[in-house]
Amino acid sequence: MSGQWWRDAVLYQIYPRSFADSDGDGIGDLPGITARLDHVAQLGADAIWLSPFYPSPQADFGYDISDYESVDPVYGTLDDFDAMVTAAHSRGIRVVIDIVMNHTSDEHPWFLESRSDRTNPKRDWYIWADPAPDGGPPNNWLSAFERCGTAWKLDAATGQYYLHSFTPGQPDLNWRNPDVHAAMHKVWQFWLDRGVDGFRIDVAHRLMKDPQLRDNPPEVAHARRHFSHPVVRQRNLDLPEVHDVLRDLRVVLDGYGDRFALGEVPISDDARLATYFGGDGMQTAFHIAFWEQPWDARAFRRCIDGLVARTRTDALPTYALSTHDISRTVSRYGIEHAPVAAMMMLTLRGVACVYYGEEIGMADAPPALEQDVDGRDGQRTPMQWDATGGFTTGNPWLPLAADQHVVNVAAQADDPGSLLNLYRRLIAYRRGSEDLRRGGYVSLDSPAEVFAYRRGDLLVALNFADHPVAFDVPGDAAGRVEVSTRLDREGVVSMRPLELEACEGVVLRLSVENLPGQNLPGQNLPGQDAAEAAP
Ligand code: GLC
Repeated sequence: MSGQWWRDAVLYQIYPRSFADSDGDGIGDLPGITARLDHVAQLGADAIWLSPFYPSPQADFGYDISDYESVDPVYGTLDDFDAMVTAAHSRGIRVVIDIVMNHTSDEHPWFLESRSDRTNPKRDWYIWADPAPDGGPPNNWLSAFERCGTAWKLDAATGQYYLHSFTPGQPDLNWRNPDVHAAMHKVWQFWLDRGVDGFRIDVAHRLMKDPQLRDNPPEVAHARRHFSHPVVRQRNLDLPEVHDVLRDLRVVLDGYGDRFALGEVPISDDARLATYFGGDGMQTAFHIAFWEQPWDARAFRRCIDGLVARTRTDALPTYALSTHDISRTVSRYGIEHAPVAAMMMLTLRGVACVYYGEEIGMADAPPALEQDVDGRDGQRTPMQWDATGGFTTGNPWLPLAADQHVVNVAAQADDPGSLLNLYRRLIAYRRGSEDLRRGGYVSLDSPAEVFAYRRGDLLVALNFADHPVAFDVPGDAAGRVEVSTRLDREGVVSMRPLELEACEGVVLRLSVENLPGQNLPGQNLPGQDAAEAAP
């Protein structure tokens, strides 16, 4: 486990509620995760990232924390957490945990004190404001959740509104108060001392708000979408002072050695997103636009090149195809495109993050409308371990997808042609490939159906189309197949033209004899990790 391990890591996101249930109550838990770590090890992931497991009234399924230094009894105990960390570390798997710093639960003791009285010492730990002259909310800020409308809730007892950027059960902390900063500092240390290897920082860009609480400009007053903010500046997020908090977090992380922070920063503007990672704050951040693209090779090229062009050469984004917040890959792009999507995510230059179940091609299974508590339940259904489900012996908190009989780990484990085994092959190849781990990235011109790029001495060619495509690759006459989405692709293939089957992706090593002196694009690229080459 050596320095900057996270730079080429594959993370595996676990939604604790839905991964594995050890006690039959129908809800996943930490001992369940521990018992299933061999699946993660066989996949070859470097780390697990756990969505929140803290005590919570579950107004936002754990993203409303009522105690930062404990485990919700439904998921287990702190001892279970420690046992999970030990078991993960013994398999060479690191542990990254989600930390929600923008808001707490409205049942957190800090908030209970804060709302108890206008003169309570913790009043200023949250963002309180007097009503507007007409008695309505203090300004025009909206909750990121469309269903919630205004971001303000009136507390009748004290006659003021509090800010909630998400549900009313998630009051925003006031990070301008040094006591809040100090309290959260202790939380970071609490978990780092327990051996966690990193944090995923929930809505990292939201920590600071305009101190005067001025209205947002009219053009964004109605922009409620959480994951795609307009380019126009807003006064309730992405303020420069946010970076002071993130720098302080980094100092703490660096004090512990090899730990890292991965930011969730839903900002569509590449230049602004780029300020959140690779400097003296968080080491990496999700490339949010990556999971918003339509299934279109040109769209992905534009999306990736756009952020790369605005990113410091030594900075790395994190690529995920799906998360607990968005519809699953297979449901958005179709199962036939899942192999190419996987190859793309695992061969780009950056951290990769696999959402549990993506490796077997799980699809969304939205419950009937009246049972869908959150609107995001469809992508959070229980992991499909075997033909009977294998998630719980009890009654699962969400129904398993109807295709569990065919789409499951057991059915795919020994099938060399399965999606699961493609993920394993790709991850194993990535781990052993200097070009993928440290090489630069440059995209290449290709037919509209194909996204092609160089990574060091490798060429990655991805056919997004449902029909075969052939095209001449400039430079080399031939390349050796390193990994393919097809099992029957081996040996040396011609690049004049390179023929790709429908929905096929290949990683090719460019013919060694053709390389010297040819000055191909992709050699000695600016993105080459110079820092890693240094002694
Ligand atoms: C993040 C989480 C999401 C949550 C929100 C509020 O976007 O990923 O699940 O609802 O923050 O904490």
